[in-house]
Amino acid sequence: MPEGLVYVDGEFVKPNEAKISVFDHGLLYGDGVFEGIRFYNGRIFKLGEHVDRLFASAEKIGLPIPMTKEEFATAVLRTTSKSGLKDGYLRPLVTRGAGDLGLDPRKSKRSSVVIICSTINLYGNKHELGLKAIVASVRRTPPSSLNPNIKSLNYLNNILAKSEANLKGADEAIILDIDGYVAEASADNIFAVKGGVVYTPPTTTNLVGITRGTILELAKGHYETRVERFRVDFLLKADEVFITGTGGEVAPVVELDDQKIGTGVPGPITKDLQKRYFELVRSTGVPIPPSGNNGH
Ligand SMILES: Cc1ncc(COP(=O)(O)O)c(C=O)c1O
Repeated sequence: MPEGLVYVDGEFVKPNEAKISVFDHGLLYGDGVFEGIRFYNGRIFKLGEHVDRLFASAEKIGLPIPMTKEEFATAVLRTTSKSGLKDGYLRPLVTRGAGDLGLDPRKSKRSSVVIICSTINLYGNKHELGLKAIVASVRRTPPSSLNPNIKSLNYLNNILAKSEANLKGADEAIILDIDGYVAEASADNIFAVKGGVVYTPPTTTNLVGITRGTILELAKGHYETRVERFRVDFLLKADEVFITGTGGEVAPVVELDDQKIGTGVPGPITKDLQKRYFELVRSTGVPIPPSGNNGH
C-alpha cells in the first residue's frame, strides 16, 4: 500500500481507501487542475506559491474551488501533519466533480478537492549520474490550443513524450514547441549552460515552474542568466544541460539523442545550483504543525 494519507472533500482516508466517483469529469475528461509540492524536514517548500498557482489554473478554466486559499493551505498542512511523514510529496487536485456522461462542465454541481500526501522518487541516483534524454517527436500543445500555464489533469501530450523516451531507453523527453524551439521536459523546465551563462526558455510555451523560478533566483549574483528561446542544436553544443521540477528537483542531462552534452558528466554550474537548491529546500518552508495540534 502506498504510504501517507489522503484528504477527499473534508475527510482524511488511507491511500487505498480514497475514492472519487467514476462520473467525475476529472476522470472522464481530465477536467481539473493539480499541483505537485514537496516537503522536506517537516516543512512544506513554497506552499503559498503552489496554492496561488493552483487557484490561478482553476480560474483559467472556470473551475470553482469550494475553499479560500487560506483554507486550502490549512488542509494541505493538516493532511501532511496527520500523515506523520516529515519528507514527501503532496498532490493536491481539484476536479470538476461528478456530472453526467456529456462533457458540459455545467452538469457537475460541485468540484472535488483531493490532497494526496505520500512520497515520490523520480530519478533515483540519476541526480548524481545525470539523465539520458531524447527529443520527442510529439510537439508541445501550442498555447493557442491550451495555455501551458494551466496545470490541468490532461497530461496526455506529456505522457506521449515520456513514453517515447521509455521506448528508446532514455530517462526523459525534451519537448519542442510547435515552431521547433525547446519548450520543456515531460514534467520539468529546462536550462542550458554555455560559456558560464545560464539559459532557459521564456514560459510562453511551458509551465512557469516554481523550481525554475527558484533556480533563476539562486543563480542571481553568481551567474549571468538569460531567458530566451533556443533550438536543439544549442542544447547539443551547450556545456551543461539540466532540468528542474518539484518532483525531479534539479537533474543534470548528460546525453541527448545519444550525443554527449559537454563532457558527458554533470557540470560544475549544474552541481553548484543543485547543491544550493537542496540546501534551500531543506532549510526553508512552512512548518508542518505537530499532529494532535491540527484541530482533529
Ligand atoms: C509540464 C511541466 N513543466 C514544468 C514543471 C515544473 O514545475 P515546478 O517546478 O513548479 O514543479 C512541471 C511540474 O509541475 C510540469 O508538469
